Amino acid sequence: MKKIKKIKKAVFPVAGMGTRFLPATKASPKEMLPLVDKPLIQYVVEEAIASGIEEIIMITGRGKYAIEDHFDRSLELESLLEKRNQWQALADLKKISDMCDFWYIRQKEPLGLGHAILKVKDLVGDEPFAVLLGDDIIHSDGEPALSQLMDVHHKMGSSVVAIEEVTRAKVSSYGVVDPEWCMDSMYKIKGLVEKPDIDEAPSNLAVIGRYILTPAIFDALDGVVPDKKGEIQLTAGLNRLCASEAMYGCKFAGKRYDAGDKLGFLIATVEYALRREDLGASFKEYLSSLKF
Ligand code: UTP
Repeated sequence: MKKIKKIKKAVFPVAGMGTRFLPATKASPKEMLPLVDKPLIQYVVEEAIASGIEEIIMITGRGKYAIEDHFDRSLELESLLEKRNQWQALADLKKISDMCDFWYIRQKEPLGLGHAILKVKDLVGDEPFAVLLGDDIIHSDGEPALSQLMDVHHKMGSSVVAIEEVTRAKVSSYGVVDPEWCMDSMYKIKGLVEKPDIDEAPSNLAVIGRYILTPAIFDALDGVVPDKKGEIQLTAGLNRLCASEAMYGCKFAGKRYDAGDKLGFLIATVEYALRREDLGASFKEYLSSLKF
């Protein structure tokens, strides 16, 4: 029987331009927008680590240095907090840089998510790896979403994508799967279509930003023809991959927020603030006082 290796590496493509959030993203990365008091990317890194990831490879681009600084030590800030006896804040700060090993690689031009992933071919090597998108935030009271995908990978030994049901009106904003069969929350996938028209969508099951990929994805992406915008789409690579080997979808348990979109970001902000022990009650009181 084939021995399934533990997934240790996670790739975070963060080289996109974040145009839906301009002008906020003109000089600072979308991934650093704070959800209450923590940057979006930190929530996703914490999910990866809670799922057992040991190494994180970020694919960055122009203007993304704030992300590297965030996960590095800040000696001046640490010594200031020490002088002021702010021990809890100091411990929280150190935890961020101690979380795991971070590697950075540049995508010189944002030529699509598939193009970004091709950049990590040599760093990943010959083992399955995780991919997480920093603007898809998933709240889970139980097992983290990535860990749920890992469970499917360990059972089936294949690539796994996270899927979520969306309304028919929204299918044209996502990569959509064509399912062959389904058992509980696991779907065998026979194809994928990027942003289909409502009438042509094979289902209303959208792929969202968590993936476990086998190294065969690199050959699959190599063969993808760039789209009209000159971008190499990950969906096209996944579609090629599932023609050559099995692929599964995992309808994960948890609530996902599309924080790369303004409305999604506002909804996430309100719900994360309401869940906070230190803010929830007073924020709720404030919200109830609003007259609409
Ligand atoms: P998005 O399309 O959601 O992000 O890509 P974007 O391009 O930054 O945002 P908009 O649409 O212009 O507002 C999904 C993820 O893929 C990364 C992005 O950083 C984001 O995390 N990405 C996208 C890359 O790393 N490289 C690319 O060429 C494209």
